[in-house]
Amino acid sequence: MAATRTFSIIKPDATRRNLTGAVTKMLEEAGLRVVASKRIQMTREQAEGFYAVHKERPFFGDLVEFMISGPVVVQVLEGEDAVKRNRDVMGATNPSDAAEGTIRKAYAESIEANSVHGSDSDENAKIEIDYFFKPEEIVG
Ligand code: CMP
Repeated sequence: MAATRTFSIIKPDATRRNLTGAVTKMLEEAGLRVVASKRIQMTREQAEGFYAVHKERPFFGDLVEFMISGPVVVQVLEGEDAVKRNRDVMGATNPSDAAEGTIRKAYAESIEANSVHGSDSDENAKIEIDYFFKPEEIVG
């Protein structure tokens, strides 16, 4: 199977605890290559737009506040079956359900402060990559 791409965010709970390298190491060890990466402070508008699909959910307001509470690292990851590969190494959304050996089992603090985001489909990966990166910022 050819390499595909997915989008990842290292969330504020992880950047605050200086875990950018530790999380990235787990991504790399899972067979993913970081082909774009930048540390940013998301604006409220960016976070609301990014999570617009969740805007009717009761946790939307808290989620946006959390995502703008500190810097995040947005990344494009490349690898064979990248979306699934990334979701497997991230582990379940709720860290209490996350399997041993996953990023969320190792580092997540709660369902909200769960250290990483990853695209859930190839289609959404493209949308999410385009939301944060210009084509020339991605170097495979
Ligand atoms: P993420 O993959 O970034 O996509 C939406 C986020 O909402 C999710 O990870 C969780 O961190 C966050 N979230 C907060 N509360 C909930 C909840 N009750 N159910 C699902 N996701 C939640």
